[in-house]
Amino acid sequence: MSTLRSKWESPSNIALVKYWGKQPEGVQLPANASISFTLSESKTITAIDVSPAEQREVKIWLDGDLKPDFLPKIETFFDRIAEQFPWLDTSLIHIDTKNTFPYGTGIASSASSMSALALCICDIAVQRHELQESEMMSKASEIARLGSGSACRSIYAPLAEWGRHYDFEGSSDDFATPFIDVSPLFKDFCDTILLVDSGQKEVSSTIGHALIENHPFGEKRFELATVNMSKIKSALENGDLDSFMKVVESEALMLHALMMTSDPYFILMKANTLAIIEKIWAERGKNKRKWCFTLDAGANVHFLYPAEDEQIAKSFVDKELKQYCQNGLYICDRIGSGPNKLI
Ligand code: DP6
Repeated sequence: MSTLRSKWESPSNIALVKYWGKQPEGVQLPANASISFTLSESKTITAIDVSPAEQREVKIWLDGDLKPDFLPKIETFFDRIAEQFPWLDTSLIHIDTKNTFPYGTGIASSASSMSALALCICDIAVQRHELQESEMMSKASEIARLGSGSACRSIYAPLAEWGRHYDFEGSSDDFATPFIDVSPLFKDFCDTILLVDSGQKEVSSTIGHALIENHPFGEKRFELATVNMSKIKSALENGDLDSFMKVVESEALMLHALMMTSDPYFILMKANTLAIIEKIWAERGKNKRKWCFTLDAGANVHFLYPAEDEQIAKSFVDKELKQYCQNGLYICDRIGSGPNKLI
């Protein structure tokens, strides 16, 4: 078989109810269900070329530069999926990738990059007539999970749910499913990502997830996440912004509280993270805004607000929040429409 090609762009996502902790058994199965907004502007564009070879050989470029340091993560991913796609073990695989957001700004690229790569692999499997086109997205979500858990949610928009939960019909620990039945209010929600700290992550997600295994509050956390999933589902369906804000902020703070109480413990927020949160709360109190924030496992703040407030929220960012961003950097993002096939 000659060289096969595929090219996809796939977005990042921001969790509203967080995935933090893996099941002790199985590979990359979540300790609790999670749900995220799929973003529009923060994405990875990946092209792959697959040609026959004696054994597996992988080369990866980011922005045109060869990146051998990315290989261990990619090889682990290919090892995990090689049983399903045996041709990977007898292929020369060239991966050419770039992100629309600047690398090293503290924005996690694993969700967008692993979902883009998973889509390319599944697309090649379709070209090889080994996978039905109708099953492609679900399979891409399943294998994206094996690359990075949160990546499985990037396959679907406007929101995606991952992990078995009694309120989400068809939900699974193996792959994400789209969550579409939301109030129109949430279909074009905005997310301005305030880049507080671009430093290397102090704790990688993989290590962070492991810390929850023997965490003193672990069991309670999984219980609360399960309850929060039910609450956010009804808030999203009913357009209940007050309930939405409460769940989302509580989830962000709980994630950081878990990190502060792990062994070893971490404080990932910076002084400017708190300064931004305080400004958002002050403005919310003063002008009755339906604005809130969420956090990843880092110092950056995702400032979330309804699209109808876009102009006023953006001038608030410029006047009040930008000063707390490293080099004044922030990214204007919003809910998007999911991945796209480019070739
Ligand atoms: C805080 O998906 O990056 O962003 O499965 O080990 O690759 P791995 O972890 P990852 O964890 C994401 C954690 C989070 C919350 C979330 O996205 O749900």
